[in-house]
This record gives sequence, structure tokens and C-alpha cells, in this order.
Amino acid sequence: MHARYSTPQITLHWLSALLVLTIIALPYGSDFFAPFLGGEGGVFTLHKSLGLTVLLLTLLRVVVRARHGAPQLLPTDARFQQFAAKAGHALLYLLLLAMPLTGLIFGKRPVNLFWLVEIGPLPLADGTRALAKQFHVTAQYLLFALILGHAGIALWHHYARRDGVLHGMLPVAKPR
Ligand code: HEM
Ligand code: HEM
Repeated sequence: MHARYSTPQITLHWLSALLVLTIIALPYGSDFFAPFLGGEGGVFTLHKSLGLTVLLLTLLRVVVRARHGAPQLLPTDARFQQFAAKAGHALLYLLLLAMPLTGLIFGKRPVNLFWLVEIGPLPLADGTRALAKQFHVTAQYLLFALILGHAGIALWHHYARRDGVLHGMLPVAKPR
């Protein structure tokens, strides 16, 4: 049997991936989504609500990760690959926390969470808000690069190396 992530980790990974891609698509495809969401305000209400959901899911993932650990999917002697994978995953986790946190910090108006309850704004100085906004709109490019690299490497393992790394994060094990 090949090593795999636990079912909660796999579920949280794919749910977060879907949410993050939607969160990114919303502001960039604003013209397309706005008519379905009652205007541009609605686009950002959904962007923020899903973003805060990702923050919660990521906190949960970190707890689950601390309990379950991660399976050894790469060969034990592939030292550089091991290091690069760890660093890449750590950066992804960091951004999955930093993006929603900075979003929450820089908003001046309350977030209308899923059109249900209003939260915030946080009582912060204008300088802090400006810094958080700068981070939010700049770090998105680091996030894009990491996601593209991450998915690209996963597909390279799957189709070129055929080593079962992708199956470690899929609900089905690699057939023998
Ligand atoms: C995983 C979570 C998040 C990701 C990946 C993300 C990503 C992005 C991206 C890619 C943009 C487009 C920036 C641009 O137009 O250049 C953006 C804009 C924005 N985000 Fe987020 N975001 C996240 C969470 C949040 C949260 C939780 C909030 C607020 C509570 C928020 C508030 C905003 C606002 C207000 C803008 C518009 C900024 C502007 O004035 O250009 N975001 N975000
Ligand atoms: C928004 C998109 C994505 C994000 C934010 C993301 C994030 C992450 C994170 C943080 C981990 C580390 C899990 C841990 O060790 O606790 C991980 C692992 C993994 N992801 Fe993703 N992921 C995304 C999309 C994808 C896609 C599209 C694929 C496949 C094409 C993929 C395949 C994998 C695989 C195979 C692993 C396990 C790698 C290993 O442990 O060596 N991910 N992902």
C-alpha cells in the first residue's frame, strides 16, 4: 500500500483549493460574476466570505497536520526535493493565513459574511490598513506563482515520473 494523506487532510486540501481558485476568479472576473451577485459589492461580499472560510479551514488544517503529520511521498534520499516540497508547502500555508488576515485588516467597512452577519471593521490605524492592503494586492502574485508551480510539479510527478505522489493527495490509492 502506498503512503497517503488522511481522509480529513485530502478533503480539506481539495475544498481549500476549490475555494482559493474561486476567491481569485471573483475580483478578476468581476464583470462576469456581478449580475449574479447583485453588483460588484456582491462579488466582494462573496470574495471576503469565502476568504474568511479559507482562514478557518487553514487553521483547522494546521491542527490536523500537527496531529496526523504528512506521509513520506518522496524518496528518502531525495534531500533537495524533500526540502523544496516542505518549503513550498510551508509558504502556501503561510499565504493561506496571511491573505485572509490582511484582507480582514485593511477593510474599512464591516464584512457582510455570506449576507448573514456583519463583522468588523477592526479598530486599527490607517497606516496599518494601508500596509495590509499593500501586502494583500502584492502577495497575490507570490500565491499565483506558488499555486502554478505546486500544481505543475504534482502533474509532472503524475504524468512524467509516474511515482504516485499525486495519489497521496487523491481519494484513491495508486493501482499496483
Ligand atoms: C485566501 C484568501 C484570499 C485571497 C487568495 C485573496 C486574493 C485577492 C486577490 C487576488 C485580489 C485582487 C487584487 C487586484 O485586483 O489586484 C483581492 C482583492 C481584494 N480582497 Fe482579497 N483575498 C483573500 C481574502 C480576502 C478577505 C478575507 C478579504 C476581506 C475580509 C479580502 C478583501 C479584498 C478586497 C477589499 C480586495 C479589493 C482590493 C482593491 O481595492 O483593489 N480578501 N484579493
Ligand atoms: C489553490 C490551490 C492549492 C493549494 C493552496 C494547495 C496547497 C497545498 C498544501 C498547503 C499542501 C501541503 C499539505 C501538507 O503537507 O499538510 C499540499 C499538498 C499537495 N497538493 Fe496541493 N494545493 C493546491 C492545489 C493543488 C493541485 C491543483 C494539485 C494537483 C494537480 C495539488 C496536489 C498536491 C499534492 C500531490 C500534495 C502532496 C505533496 C506532498 O506531500 O509531497 N494541489 N497542497
